[in-house]
Amino acid sequence: MKVKAPGRINLIGEHTDYNDGFVLPFAINKYVEVSINQSEIYEFESKTFNNIVKLERLEKTNSWADYIIGILTILNKQGFKIPPVRISVDSNIPVGSGLSSSAALEVASCFALSEYFNLGLSKLDIAKISREAEASFVGVKCGIMDQFVSAFGKKDHAIFLDTMTLAYEYVPLDLKGFEIFVVDSKVKHELSSSEYNLRRKECEMVLEKLKKRSFRELLFEDLRLLDGVLYKRARHVLEENERVLKTIKALEVKDFEEVGRLLFESHKSLKELYEVSCEETDFIVDSLKKFEGVLGARMVGGGFGGGVIVLAKEGTLEKIKKELSENYLNKFKKMLDFYELDSSDGVHVVFKG
Ligand code: GLA
Repeated sequence: MKVKAPGRINLIGEHTDYNDGFVLPFAINKYVEVSINQSEIYEFESKTFNNIVKLERLEKTNSWADYIIGILTILNKQGFKIPPVRISVDSNIPVGSGLSSSAALEVASCFALSEYFNLGLSKLDIAKISREAEASFVGVKCGIMDQFVSAFGKKDHAIFLDTMTLAYEYVPLDLKGFEIFVVDSKVKHELSSSEYNLRRKECEMVLEKLKKRSFRELLFEDLRLLDGVLYKRARHVLEENERVLKTIKALEVKDFEEVGRLLFESHKSLKELYEVSCEETDFIVDSLKKFEGVLGARMVGGGFGGGVIVLAKEGTLEKIKKELSENYLNKFKKMLDFYELDSSDGVHVVFKG
C-alpha cells in the first residue's frame, strides 16, 4: 500500500491557528509518499535522507522518524494496538522552507496506517492525530493548520479554515495570468521552535490578562488594556484575522493587487508586531518590492527563516530570479532556491496492495 500527502503553503493567516483564528492555506504539488508493510520489528526508511531507523519498541529517536513514531504512539494510546510495521518514505518537499514537510509525513503515515489496518479514521481524525503527534511527541506545540490542509486539500482551491470551530470552506483559486512561488531563504535559525512555543505562551498571557477564554472574544478596543509585547502580539492576531477575510473578498473579485498588498502588510506585521521574521526573509521581501510584476510577498510558516511566498504576474519569476539570487548571495553568501507552486488534492491512496 502506498499513499501520498501534500505539503502546504499558507496564503495568509499566520500565527493565528493556535489563537482560534482564521487561516487560508492550500495544499501544494509537492508530496510525501509513504509505503507500508507488516514487519517483525519497527523499520522506518527515508529514501530522501538515505537512512533507516530500526526499533524493537516505540521510543523517541530525535530523528526524522519521530514524526511517524509519534503517530504510532498516539494511535496506540487511543487503543488501536498497531503491530510492528515497515514504513518507507520518499519526499520532494524541501525541509525547513515553511512548506510543512513534517505535517505531510505525519498525515501520510497516519492515513497509510488507517487504510492498511482498516482503522476507519476520517480526514479530521487524521489531522487531529497528526497535530497531536507533533505537539505532544515531537514537542512543537503547533496549531492544526498544516495537518488539516494536508488532509483536506483540494486542487484549484485554498481552504478557509476557522481554527476555533474547524468549520471550513473551499475558496476557488483561479490564478490565470498570475503565479505563486516560494523563495527559500535556505536558513532556519535554531531558535525557531523555542520562539514558537514562546509566542504561544505570550498569547495565553494576553487572554489571562484580559480574562478571556479565546482570542475570538477580543475586540480591537481591548488592545488599549495591553502594552509592550502582549499588545503587539494581540494586535497582530486581530489584524491578521481581518486580512484573511479581506483576502477572501479580494480573491472573489480577482483583485490580485489587493491580495498582494495584504501579503506585504502581513509581512510587516509578522516582522514588527509578532517578531518572527529574520534579516534574510526581510531582505527577500524588501528586494521583491522593487521588481515589476511582484504584487505581494511575505514570510510563511513559523518564521525565523524558511520561505517567502510571492504573488506575481505570470512570468515574473523567470525575470527576477538571477538578480535576486545574486543580491542575496552577495549579502548572505547563500544560494536561494525557488519553487513554483500549484494547488493539489489532500492525502490519498496511490495504490492498494
Ligand atoms: C507552523 C505551525 C502552524 C502555524 C504556523 C504559523 O507552520 O505548524 O500550526 O502555527 O507555524 O502560522
